[in-house]
Amino acid sequence: MARITLRQLLDHAAEYSYGVPAFNINNMEQGIAIMEAARDCEAPVIIQASRGARNYAHDIMLARMIDALCDIYPEIPVCMHQDHGNNEATCMTAIRHGFTSVMMDGSLEADAKSPASYDYNVEITERVARMAHWVGASVEGELGVLGSLETGESEAEDGHGAEGTLSQEQLLTDPDQAVDFVLRTKVDALAIACGTSHGANKFSRKPDGDILAMSVIEDIHQKLPNTHLVMHGSSSVPQELQDIINAFGGEMPQTFGVPVEEIVRGIKHGVRKINIDTDCRMAMTGQFRKIASENPTEFDPRKFLKPSMDAMRELCRDRFDAFGTSGNASKIRVVPMDEMADRYVEGLLDPVPSTARAA
Ligand code: G3H
Ligand code: 13P
Ligand code: ZN
Repeated sequence: MARITLRQLLDHAAEYSYGVPAFNINNMEQGIAIMEAARDCEAPVIIQASRGARNYAHDIMLARMIDALCDIYPEIPVCMHQDHGNNEATCMTAIRHGFTSVMMDGSLEADAKSPASYDYNVEITERVARMAHWVGASVEGELGVLGSLETGESEAEDGHGAEGTLSQEQLLTDPDQAVDFVLRTKVDALAIACGTSHGANKFSRKPDGDILAMSVIEDIHQKLPNTHLVMHGSSSVPQELQDIINAFGGEMPQTFGVPVEEIVRGIKHGVRKINIDTDCRMAMTGQFRKIASENPTEFDPRKFLKPSMDAMRELCRDRFDAFGTSGNASKIRVVPMDEMADRYVEGLLDPVPSTARAA
């Protein structure tokens, strides 16, 4: 059983210059697909559950499934993370159910729709970080609002996502504000906004620097070289997955995701956690459609789910290899949460002020 905190895992990733994909989970099949890929690649994993996933699968089911996965794959360090926590209660109940890490997304208010003020974001994120650190759990904060630089709009996922049109200032994290935010909240990882958005409809063309502002990541990393950066909305929406879905009755309009090579560039500039959900959904759905179409008499769910799991496993393997996560599982000696809590109390895990701020 190797449950690891996000902080310890990302510290290791930073030391050895790799990134870790954070895959969303809603059910057993996704859990097995991720863990099989992790075993194939000898990679540590971040499994994350959104509020929607917790409602869908039930907290107890998710908690026991993670226990089971840790038992079945004891050699793989597993970080269980709350994706887009909207308030203190979401984060604290996640920890109560065995999550080792939470995201307090204070970029939006608790309704997960209204862009929040900077002061609100600092206050709630700092409070959650203080509480989580008492028990050794890690905290990811978010500064800037996810959304498209092409349209100014955010893509809502199960009710999560900014409403209305966002300004360029809201859509791009300000590097100086990021320094202030990290020092005041003491988050372990910082999600930034650089033009990515959730879901399949990210870009109307292969993104260049005008619509995917990787330079923002480089600027933030220069000012906060010791802070682990997180890229949300990082599915690549592969053409072959769009094609398979559309070849078997789907009607997904042509779209473009975040190219894997841009993520690899981000990893060179402090990106350590890369959030991926849509690609996994598409990998599975492509197979559902194919099997339903090719075998219209089939009615055994396993005949749909097994190929779906295999397709998701392959996608996860590709990302572990591309991000350099592969081969690192056995190199990590997992630090228990109690010991992480002591380290926070001793101030050993406080954010290190950037050279830019010290200057
Ligand atoms: O935050 C975005 C993830 O893709 C989770 O989506 O809220 O539909 O589970 P969800
Ligand atoms: P995608 O929709 O690009 O997979 O992003 C998922 C995500 O950011 C979850 O927090
Ligand atoms: Zn996200």
